[in-house]
Amino acid sequence: MSASRRVLSEWRNRAEAEYSSAAVAARVVHNLIATGMPRALIHTGQRIVNDELDHAELSLGVWRALGGEGEVQVDVTRLTPPEGPPLLLLAEDVLRAFCVGETVAVPLFAAMRAGAEHPAVLGALERILRDEAVHRAFGWDALEALVALDPAGVPPFMAQRLPEALMSCRKAYVVPHTHRSA
Ligand SMILES: [Fe+2]
Ligand SMILES: [Fe+2]
Repeated sequence: MSASRRVLSEWRNRAEAEYSSAAVAARVVHNLIATGMPRALIHTGQRIVNDELDHAELSLGVWRALGGEGEVQVDVTRLTPPEGPPLLLLAEDVLRAFCVGETVAVPLFAAMRAGAEHPAVLGALERILRDEAVHRAFGWDALEALVALDPAGVPPFMAQRLPEALMSCRKAYVVPHTHRSA
């Protein structure tokens, strides 16, 4: 059974997205260190960098197993880190990538796994789902540490950035119109 173009393009996009997540996690690790956060958070952040690189490879493997051919090119220009104070950069990433992104990802991956049959897909989703639950917990722990570090500044910053974080998460999962007929 060959996978539909839509399924193939989802796994190719997933490989790119996981690779980008590794870059974001590496940036988070840097900013955790730059803001003097607890060692346990830094340690989990390092683990997440490796998990996301593994997820990128796994997703690429699924894409190939389903019939994907050629190379997946990651647009590395999008991975250039923004400039700014480490605390604000960290707060932005923790909100967007973890408290919103990973939290939303867990039930979505669970739904994908519930409908999966191909062994390569099931294996990848099992691993990704197990890791993403850890990443989600990391996000909320990091948020707590950020609030403890700057109780007056972090909550209003998060409240101000939340609507856009939710909107961009929604956009990341909405199926583009051109793929619907595939
Ligand atoms: Fe991931
Ligand atoms: Fe993740």
